[in-house]
Amino acid sequence: MTSTEIFDQDTVAKAQDLIGRYPQSRSALLPMLHLVQSVQGFVSQEGIDFCARQLDLSEAEVSAVATFYTMYKRRPCGEHLVSVCTNTLCAALGGEAIYRQLGEHLGVGHEEVAGEPGAPGSIMLEHAECLAACDLAPVLQVNYEYYDKQTPESATELVEALQRGEKPAPTRGAPLTDFKGAELQLAGFFPEDDEAYWSDVDGPSQTAETLRGARLAADRGWTAPVMEDVPLPEVEKK
Ligand code: FES
Repeated sequence: MTSTEIFDQDTVAKAQDLIGRYPQSRSALLPMLHLVQSVQGFVSQEGIDFCARQLDLSEAEVSAVATFYTMYKRRPCGEHLVSVCTNTLCAALGGEAIYRQLGEHLGVGHEEVAGEPGAPGSIMLEHAECLAACDLAPVLQVNYEYYDKQTPESATELVEALQRGEKPAPTRGAPLTDFKGAELQLAGFFPEDDEAYWSDVDGPSQTAETLRGARLAADRGWTAPVMEDVPLPEVEKK
């Protein structure tokens, strides 16, 4: 299939919408790659061609970006993407054990899919660098939504629920969708008419652990030192 057959008029309209959001069209490349993933579940060669034509870039320029960032998948993803943080703090608190356990349970390694890619209940597993939630370690994400303070057992139950077609609520933030749905949101398009979605998004996104340092400082009257107004050194002009 050609890119024109894969990406319909609605996708072209969304691509044009994205281009209109930036002073220079090439700035729309990152969200446009997410838009491509919302259609196909990965960035195919046709997806690269689509972005190149929409943005008047070469395929080499689009490929260079698509292969640099780990959020752009060059192989078909599962219905869900499960990202387990194995960075320092999570690893020390059990992230490695969670990743190993899920790998054994699903029978896959990094960026491999359990099940037919894209089919209901299929899952791509990946290990991830710090997911910026060290205060709630060990964490994992499903389609970039957080599941905090996991154990190998709780993570396995979560994955089993996904395989059964369930969508367990994330610990915080927006309700769970699937990988393609999350990619559409990352491209900048949200379910405007879905009241349930927006009422859940309004839920709390910070926890007692997140605020603990700030509360301790407030209780003890600690403040940050005032920044001195130090003049910057002269840069020698050549
Ligand atoms: S080390 Fe896992 S979230 Fe930071």
